[in-house]
Amino acid sequence: MRGKRVVVLTGAGISAESGVRTFRDNGGLWENHRIEDVATPEGWAADPEKVWRFYQARRRQMNEVEPNPAHRALARLQSENESTFLITQNVDDLHERGGSENVHHMHGQLLTLRCEVSGRSEHRMEAASLGDEFVTCTCCSTPHRMRPDVVWFGEMPLGMERIYDAVSNCDVFVVVGSSGHVYPAAGLVEAAKQAGAQTILVNAEAPANVEFFDEVHLGAAGNLLPDLVESWLKTSRRNANDQEC
Ligand code: APR
Repeated sequence: MRGKRVVVLTGAGISAESGVRTFRDNGGLWENHRIEDVATPEGWAADPEKVWRFYQARRRQMNEVEPNPAHRALARLQSENESTFLITQNVDDLHERGGSENVHHMHGQLLTLRCEVSGRSEHRMEAASLGDEFVTCTCCSTPHRMRPDVVWFGEMPLGMERIYDAVSNCDVFVVVGSSGHVYPAAGLVEAAKQAGAQTILVNAEAPANVEFFDEVHLGAAGNLLPDLVESWLKTSRRNANDQEC
């Protein structure tokens, strides 16, 4: 892959082996919570305490989980293939803790909170900000309540222009751990394919958009990805040597 423009999109499945619940698997988060109640602006307006408790529980869990071999494999891919753009739907920080830099969180992040007045985000993972009480901002002269710094259903994912530009100009598009249900993320593989990219899937089971993948690897990302990254990098080293001959 060396020198190839690679775009990787990850979903909740890449963090499953770290103990972070996915959304739509058996036992997933959406089994216990209605999306409308805890992941929409309307839900926040109707019952902010319920929404706050939902996200505070997920924020506290960040201190209890560790990156897994799949996160570390993508960090290796980024470090050895410089043109690799990592996009994640996940709001955890496991890619960063697994060694990745420049991670594009299109659905926001759990580590930061957002002032409801100024819209500014602050990193607030200190113990005092992880309880069930609301947290107030430090950016306004009169402190205001902060909201989870995540993209709710009905809100615009972050950096879509940059994402579509990268996807439309890549050679290889890899998706790891996503069910292909939520747009615009689920539509990116079709855009990549239309742009002529090779499309590769690593997932526990066939997702809703499986038809758009040239290569499908079914199984646990933590098991599959380290060897796949090794094989991709070995092939690119061989191709680079062939070109030098
Ligand atoms: N390895 C690889 N894939 C896995 C693993 C694993 N260990 N465990 C689960 N999976 C797969 C499941 O088979 C499923 O297809 O990961 C996928 C997880 O799908 P979802 O739970 O729907 O998560 P995701 O696709 O990231 O959801 C997208 O929906 O609710 C919103 O904002 C939320 O970002 C999220 C978005």
